[in-house]
Amino acid sequence: MRILGIESSCDDTAAAVVDDGRMLVSSERLSSAMVQRRFGGVVPEVAAREHTMSVLPVVEQALAAAGTDPSELDAVAVTRGPGLLGALLIGVTFAKAVAQAWDVPVVGVHHLEAHLYANALTAPIQFPALGLIVSGGHTSLIRWEGHGQLRILGATRDDAAGEALDKGARLLGLPYPGGPEIERLALTAPAEARWRLPVARLGPETLDFSFSGLKTATEELSRRAPQDKASIARALEEAVVEALVKNLARAYARFPVGHVYLAGGVTANRRLQDAVREWGEHAGAAVHHPPVWLCTDNAAMVAAAGYYRYQRGCTMGQNEGPRTPWSLNEVGQEAGWHVDGLR
Ligand code: KG4
Ligand code: ZN
Repeated sequence: MRILGIESSCDDTAAAVVDDGRMLVSSERLSSAMVQRRFGGVVPEVAAREHTMSVLPVVEQALAAAGTDPSELDAVAVTRGPGLLGALLIGVTFAKAVAQAWDVPVVGVHHLEAHLYANALTAPIQFPALGLIVSGGHTSLIRWEGHGQLRILGATRDDAAGEALDKGARLLGLPYPGGPEIERLALTAPAEARWRLPVARLGPETLDFSFSGLKTATEELSRRAPQDKASIARALEEAVVEALVKNLARAYARFPVGHVYLAGGVTANRRLQDAVREWGEHAGAAVHHPPVWLCTDNAAMVAAAGYYRYQRGCTMGQNEGPRTPWSLNEVGQEAGWHVDGLR
């Protein structure tokens, strides 16, 4: 089954062709990050305007790179939410229009579920698993029992981990997106760690995260030691990684499954990958993460997730549009999966 995926939930316009949810045929992306840089972050209206200009050329490129004709497509999968409403509207409207013209169904995909499926493009997903989704907009720990069977174990109560890195980068005078810039700068820090930034503790019961305090602490530190930018970047990166690994370890203590899947833009970070792998070796869990270029937003993961969603009979109706907010727990419920204590 050949699916065209389309992604437009934030500042990347992307299109990809994937066969049977596993075989990547082509993947193209145009980012508006360079335009957004002028504003120091993503401006929703600017993102929407860029998608309007990029979506058709990106889809044409993806089809051309795949050497495929629209008549060979079986479905169009598109990110339906969560994300920036104006940005989602462009992708969803475009997907519905071309699907109508090509006489194929549209599958509306959950953006975070799609991030998890970036892992399916390298090897089949093995269940039961834990998922750690770390992006610019979300930080979530997931119990992943099967396709469509997702349950949120913990999520951020304030800023997402990527947001903390983006804000910290801005304080250090680094451009948007801040995560890769922090990673690069941290690598130049002297070996002996000069600074530490606090990791929020929310109590023994919860698996939630909190990253907003990091912004204040980074601000204070950069005022105290303005010459120590590289060490501060490293301290920020270390604090984020520590918070993520700590909660993952606590989730694993409750649900000791065999497989852990990392997903989302921040999991492109080498220090995070290494720390989780090291933890996994110690705990006895197999840790998987997508190749770096599939960690950040892309359409291959949308097409992959769309395949499994299509198998569950979840297609988008004519009168349906973007869905934001949209909890991953609702994805599980729609798939007929019932768990107690959902939030
Ligand atoms: O998944 P993603 O592309 O978009 C969202 O769904 O939000 O994630 C973007 C986030 C940004 O906060 C960006 O700074 C961060 O991922 N990021 C990184 C790295 N590459 C991207 N953070 C740390 N290290 C990286 N190498
Ligand atoms: Zn994303």
